[in-house]
Amino acid sequence: MKTRIKNILQAKPVGQHVSVAGWVRTKRDTGSFSFIEVNDGSCLANLQIIGDEKLENYESEIKQLSTGTSVMVEGVLQESPAKGQDVELHATRFRVIGKADPETYPLQKKRHSFEFLRELSHLRPRTNALGAVARVRSRLSYAVHKFFQEREFVQVHTPIITTSDCEGAGEMFQVTTGLEKTKAEHFFGRSAGLTVSGQLQAEVYALALGDVYTFGPTFRAENSNTSRHLSEFWMLEPEMAFCDLQGNMEIAEEMLKYLLSDAMTNCPEDMLLFDKFIEKGLLKKLQGIVDKEFAHITYTEAVERLKKAKKKFEYPIDWGRDLQSEHERYLSEDVFQCPITVTDYPASIKPFYMRVNDDNKTVAAMDILVPGIGEIVGGSQREERYDVLESRMIEAGIDLADYSWYMDLRRYGSVPHSGFGLGFERLVQFVTGMANIREAIAFPRTPGSAPC
Ligand code: 4AD
Ligand code: MG
Repeated sequence: MKTRIKNILQAKPVGQHVSVAGWVRTKRDTGSFSFIEVNDGSCLANLQIIGDEKLENYESEIKQLSTGTSVMVEGVLQESPAKGQDVELHATRFRVIGKADPETYPLQKKRHSFEFLRELSHLRPRTNALGAVARVRSRLSYAVHKFFQEREFVQVHTPIITTSDCEGAGEMFQVTTGLEKTKAEHFFGRSAGLTVSGQLQAEVYALALGDVYTFGPTFRAENSNTSRHLSEFWMLEPEMAFCDLQGNMEIAEEMLKYLLSDAMTNCPEDMLLFDKFIEKGLLKKLQGIVDKEFAHITYTEAVERLKKAKKKFEYPIDWGRDLQSEHERYLSEDVFQCPITVTDYPASIKPFYMRVNDDNKTVAAMDILVPGIGEIVGGSQREERYDVLESRMIEAGIDLADYSWYMDLRRYGSVPHSGFGLGFERLVQFVTGMANIREAIAFPRTPGSAPC
């Protein structure tokens, strides 16, 4: 049975016989023995292995080891005299499993740019930085479930294939067999697409189970080639019955702080790597966010602030226009220097399901904007009044017949309810300090790019 290197480095069972399996990072020969650094992906650190000429394959294989080769090693753990490590493994059996030709293996010892590594999405998790992102992402995903399960939320698996365009932005990828000629021949009897959000279906379950969440892949066919957009991304969407906008904002803030804290507590080495090499001061920034209340501001106040700003923006800002990323970042980076929750956006720029405020001009929406990224969370209280919802849908040009199930929730036992969506890659990007969202997901899909 192999032991994970992370456990070995934590427990340091000196004197014990252990076996490890991983990939060679570097090798250095000195006289009759070699130092081999092996990484098995369980943690950032490598385990140093000492192989000497007593091993039967020392000359034939060990001395020829090159970066990227996979190996299985048995040996005895000993205290290490070297600086920077406590233990090392003295090999008693050293098996080469799969060779990696040094002439062609693309991950050499030097640092590679993230752009270069994107071309190698099948090999990049073997680098320190992308390996660390994968571990932090996994931990954050676990922490999402932990947070909501500890609060008695029920997870709902909402569908990937759907016939409703939740955001109404016309950004749905169509699902077809490619053979359909008429509507009657559609596989599902009507046109269907990949979900842009699980919210509408999450609402169904919130209005039966109270507090629910859905967490899964979502798809947007928008042609945005930016450092914050993906065509396929993961979204976490809690939905809460008997909950107004205030309650929604509170749980979103509590959740974000919980997730940042959890990553710092449970992935300390990976987080230090990001702090040192990706974004200097990252840990201090994240801790500052955990310790402080988010700022709160209405959309109308935000527009006033932006109009008074000395900074020149590329996009004009006026009441009724949507905030652009540059505006969002100015507010969170320059004005407040912390996350801010912006509420009560104009009804005209938000989807049909958001609850109309008493002024009849704005809706009970909330976006959370964070420094460096802009919008990380988007949510709202939902319109629970049948008549108001119906007229909003007609205004938006939605075919009511397609949404009779959604309207039924307002016909039978309607309740005030709220929820939000957290862009999971934007969270991973924020927590790791990565400049581009393409480093926050294993296999990024963007317009013109879906390599494997
Ligand atoms: O603001 P959005 O579009 O909201 C919704 O979809 C709601 N139905 C959520 C809800 O209330 N249940 O998307 C939510 C979040 C954004 O704040 C952003 O973080 C992320 O999803 N997001 C994207 N992330 C990566 N690439 C994209 N193309 C994204 N579009 C949205
Ligand atoms: Mg949004």
